[in-house]
Amino acid sequence: MLLLTIESTCDETAAAVIDGSLNVLSSVVASQEALHGQFGGVVPEIASRAHMERMLPVIDAALQKAGKRLEDLDAIGVATSPGLAGSLLVGLVAAKSLCLALDIPLVAVNHVQAHIFACRMAAGRDVFPCVGLVVSGGHTSLYRCGGPLDFELLGGTIDDAAGEAFDKVASLLGLPFPGGPAIQKTASSGNPRRYTFPRPLLNDHDRLEFSFSGLKTAVRYELDRITGGPNTNGHGAKQPLSDSIVADVAASFQEAVVDCLLGKAALALEQTGLGQLCVAGGVAANSRLRSRMESLADERNVELHMPPLRWCTDNAAMGAIAVERLRAGLVEPLDLEIQPGLIRPGR
Ligand code: KG4
Ligand code: ZN
Repeated sequence: MLLLTIESTCDETAAAVIDGSLNVLSSVVASQEALHGQFGGVVPEIASRAHMERMLPVIDAALQKAGKRLEDLDAIGVATSPGLAGSLLVGLVAAKSLCLALDIPLVAVNHVQAHIFACRMAAGRDVFPCVGLVVSGGHTSLYRCGGPLDFELLGGTIDDAAGEAFDKVASLLGLPFPGGPAIQKTASSGNPRRYTFPRPLLNDHDRLEFSFSGLKTAVRYELDRITGGPNTNGHGAKQPLSDSIVADVAASFQEAVVDCLLGKAALALEQTGLGQLCVAGGVAANSRLRSRMESLADERNVELHMPPLRWCTDNAAMGAIAVERLRAGLVEPLDLEIQPGLIRPGR
């Protein structure tokens, strides 16, 4: 069995070739970071146009690297939800066209579930049942994952996603987009105890929910206090921010986010009684989060699975979850539509 998987939910155009034993024969990602960087965030219209330009070359490159031809494919897996509408459409139209031309089945992939499946891919063996924590630019959610086709949403953010908070705080600090890697780098020389930022909902021991917008605002107020004036994008402040203040704010903010993620992951483990934890999504690339998750797993005696960095941020290798869906007969009609905002945990 041979699948081509396509990912275009946000700002990475990606394709991978996967076999029936979940071996990744190739995985190609064309990042759009350079296009969106100057705007400090992903611009949906630019993203969908860039997907259109890159989709076919990326698919070609994936096939070529795998040493396969279109005729070798048995099915196409494509991320159809959730994500940016224009971006999703480009991937789905490409997938449908190939399915029609090659007369092979179309398999829909839920992007959030695919992030968790990256842990299964990295482990090289079954990781279910597990608690799945997806932390990315668009999502911060906890799932009870019974198997590759069985996801139950336990709770998620009530406002911003963790990655979004990283990106916005980076912008306040005058750091480049995407903010996560920039904050991590700056935070490595900072003091995480210099500023006390809130840990929203952390002490709310019944709720498996996150909230990051208040934390972002608290950083903004702290920066106003430090500089003696409203701070926008690190410019226009009365007092410029010194490198050491930027590093300390970054470290203190990062620690607050990590505390929240850890606390709720621990609560989900307690509530479900499960012994495996999968942490995935772009923010799972964060070195501080990774090391603190490892300590948590040791303390709680649970098995922790986190993908390697290249499979934390968006990629098509995690679309290998389509292999499981195809095996279960879950194929889609060619009039399938995208579901931009709809997270359907059961799908
Ligand atoms: O999974 P992803 O590539 O796209 C979405 O599905 O949203 O995640 C992108 C997010 C961005 O917000 C980025 O700032 C964040 O992941 N990110 C990080 C790190 N690397 C990427 N956040 C914290 N630390 C990192 N090292
Ligand atoms: Zn993602």
